[in-house]
Amino acid sequence: MNTPRTIHNLALIGFMGTGKSSVGRSLATHLHFRFVDTDELIESRTGRSISDIFAQAGEQVFRGIEKQVVAELAKAQRTIISSGGGLAANEENMASLKQHALVICLWASPEVIWERVHTQTHRPLLQGADPMSKIRELLAKREPFYKQADVLVNTEMRSIKEVVQQVLHQFNLARGTSSAKS
Ligand code: S3P
Repeated sequence: MNTPRTIHNLALIGFMGTGKSSVGRSLATHLHFRFVDTDELIESRTGRSISDIFAQAGEQVFRGIEKQVVAELAKAQRTIISSGGGLAANEENMASLKQHALVICLWASPEVIWERVHTQTHRPLLQGADPMSKIRELLAKREPFYKQADVLVNTEMRSIKEVVQQVLHQFNLARGTSSAKS
């Protein structure tokens, strides 16, 4: 029943603060692919910020819109998809991405994530009284999903440039092209 998998795209999944957007933009430039950030797409579609959607409509509504966006992206070609941190924590979303994209998870420990995000204010899930506990809790819940990625790339102690090179290498291997050609 499963339709055969064809890798037209590259999807980055992983927790907040793992560098999906920065890495994704750079990959798109290197590969001459289109770049789509699911959060940006949701914001432009709804005309509201992610924070406003969470505050006014709630997380469930946000997850519903996120799911629609994932379903639409099944038609994408030559696209780098940078996904919101919670998008992959849903069986259907993961299955959909895997049909058309090489799924790469960017990884970091809770401590490193905290270092990277604690001064930022645009992530509603981390605006509570104890963001470090929230990071640990969410990461533990999501880890089984993140580990279903085709490739896991540790972003700790690596620059964005190094992560990009690592991802490019994996993508070229998956497509059967030599990284020397990219
Ligand atoms: C979320 C991560 C955010 C954004 C929303 C929810 C999450 O995206 O989708 O705030 O549930 O982890 P980033 O991972 O790009 O910060």
